[in-house]
Amino acid sequence: MELKVDRGEGIESWREVTLIYTAALKQIETKMGILNDEFQHVHQYNPIEHIKSRIKTPESIVKKLKRNGFESTIDNMVKYINDIAGIRIICSFTSDIFRIAEMISDQRDIKVIAVKDYITFPKASGYKSYHMIVTVPVYLSDRTVDTKVEIQIRTVAMDFWASLEHKIHYKFEGDAPDHIKNELIECARMVSDLDNRMLQLNEEISAISREKEPR
Ligand code: GTP
Ligand code: MG
Repeated sequence: MELKVDRGEGIESWREVTLIYTAALKQIETKMGILNDEFQHVHQYNPIEHIKSRIKTPESIVKKLKRNGFESTIDNMVKYINDIAGIRIICSFTSDIFRIAEMISDQRDIKVIAVKDYITFPKASGYKSYHMIVTVPVYLSDRTVDTKVEIQIRTVAMDFWASLEHKIHYKFEGDAPDHIKNELIECARMVSDLDNRMLQLNEEISAISREKEPR
């Protein structure tokens, strides 16, 4: 890929971009691992099921810049593309989502730039997920770079739905037949219902376990 190098502002090459954003992902992953371990220690359960992370490919960065009317320069990438580094945190219950989001924003070195709460306000498609754009400091030998990371937090069930919806969206280039769109909306409703019922069940079980605990 050919990228015009725009010297003067910090990051200068694609290799440096990869290095810094990979480091930022590692920072967030480590932080999440620590929170999960601590949660296990205090509450005897793990809010995080698993974590997926990725660096956006140069091709899709260039495509997104073009779509938004920007030239393909390193400066523009760093400035305008918020999801070069992306991490997806998958948890069991809807309540975990907000707990995790709060634990993230409470960290002193993390700055929350933007939040999109598609849990409280799902998209018309039925999409549910909690999105945060944050910055995390990456410490290099001669400077510190506050680096943007897109964090998506959702339940296992929401993630299952989003994966299939994404596949369908691509297959039909965003123009799926009505009956498929409607079926997806109906599945999203079932996903929400399932998440609610699983949460209620879990709360019931937790209450019983608390009663049984020796005082
Ligand atoms: P992008 O330009 O696509 O990154 O979206 P945005 O800048 O409007 O931000 P938003 O927070 O809405 O979406 C960020 C990311 O969430 C997307 O890149 C997708 O990975 C995911 N996402 C958002 N909406 C949907 C959706 O309707 N279905 C699925 N499957 N994923 C979605
Ligand atoms: Mg994106």
